[in-house]
Amino acid sequence: MTHAIPRTPLVTSRLPEVGTTIFTVMSALAQAHGAVNLGQGFPDFDCDPRLVDAVDAAMRGGLNQYPPMAGVPQLREAIAAKIDSLYGHAYDPGSEITVTAGATQAILTAILATVHPGDEVIVLDPCYDSYEPNIELAGGKPVHVALTPGTFEPDFAAIRAALTPRTRAIIVNTPHNPSATVWSAAQMQQLAELLRPTDVIVIADEVYEHMVFDGALHQSVARFAGLAQRSIVISSFGKTYHVTGWKVGYAAAPAALTAEFRKVHQFNVFTVNTPMQHGLASFMADASHHLELPAFYQRKRDLFRAGLAASRFRLLPSAGSYFQCVDYSAISELSEEAFCRWLTAEVGVAAIPVAAFYKGGFEQRLARFCFAKKDETLQLALDRLAKL
Ligand SMILES: Cc1ncc(COP(=O)(O)O)c(C=O)c1O
Repeated sequence: MTHAIPRTPLVTSRLPEVGTTIFTVMSALAQAHGAVNLGQGFPDFDCDPRLVDAVDAAMRGGLNQYPPMAGVPQLREAIAAKIDSLYGHAYDPGSEITVTAGATQAILTAILATVHPGDEVIVLDPCYDSYEPNIELAGGKPVHVALTPGTFEPDFAAIRAALTPRTRAIIVNTPHNPSATVWSAAQMQQLAELLRPTDVIVIADEVYEHMVFDGALHQSVARFAGLAQRSIVISSFGKTYHVTGWKVGYAAAPAALTAEFRKVHQFNVFTVNTPMQHGLASFMADASHHLELPAFYQRKRDLFRAGLAASRFRLLPSAGSYFQCVDYSAISELSEEAFCRWLTAEVGVAAIPVAAFYKGGFEQRLARFCFAKKDETLQLALDRLAKL
């Protein structure tokens, strides 16, 4: 008998290319240098105390056991009513809406439910970092198509060229992280037209749906009959209600897609925490929070932009989301990551290199700031950045 030393079996990584994300790196650097962290995208202010009270009331009222698998019915009804009133599409709360553990889980679930090994999924670079590994976990092949450099508008000729008989889905994110662009109604119609002869599913990441500025409207896929029928629409209560740590979101999709979505959801998270769902449902009864959110964030955007107006940063438009991208080429020749590291360590403000959102990186001398911060935080950052 051999007495081998017990050892942990070696595992062939499912995601060999995944390492520490730039968000973790920059946040750690910000902390080490006492920098103002405008890197990672979350608010540094609290949510409405009435939302906490509503969750507290649910917990104290004994609503602490498993809810229905698809989510608390009152919350699904509130979501359906909101989508109908804003975008004019009536999803059935019973068969077409599922409450998820944040948008992140909804995106993974949507991909696992629809993508088979060898299927292709089009992602538009720059894009949120979970899409690519999610597609790989499903055995799918990410097909990267760049948004037009400079404007970040969708390049429909390039998307058309990327479509093949193996294309299963395209992921569309509007308002867009990191570029802060929003798709127009005409662009959504162009997408609908392009996909009309195909069976391609749209995974619509609309987590910033309530942050669209200057009087423009969010063009949800739910507004367009030709898209709604082939789309899984994903949103995040974390973004809308300033509670990113609660990790509650939802997916709305036609019943046939929702049925497949729920098969994966059921054996992944099964259910999302009950009292948060009840709290959100009762808070949503008053629509004023999400209706006032564009003005709330537009004021912060304007404050931040005004503070940088005299600097050498060139400000890109910020039409939606809570991000502001800047071109720093008049200030530095450094690569984006090197510039963001320098900015964090030497100037005391953390930002994220836009190149990090591209497969293989793409240098444009752009950095992304998050303005979902208290005015004092923004002011402190501006005091440091305005000199540049
Ligand atoms: C484009 C985009 N999609 C999805 C998410 C994840 O949302 P959640 O926190 O609800 O998982 C984020 C968060 O930063 C995001 O920016």
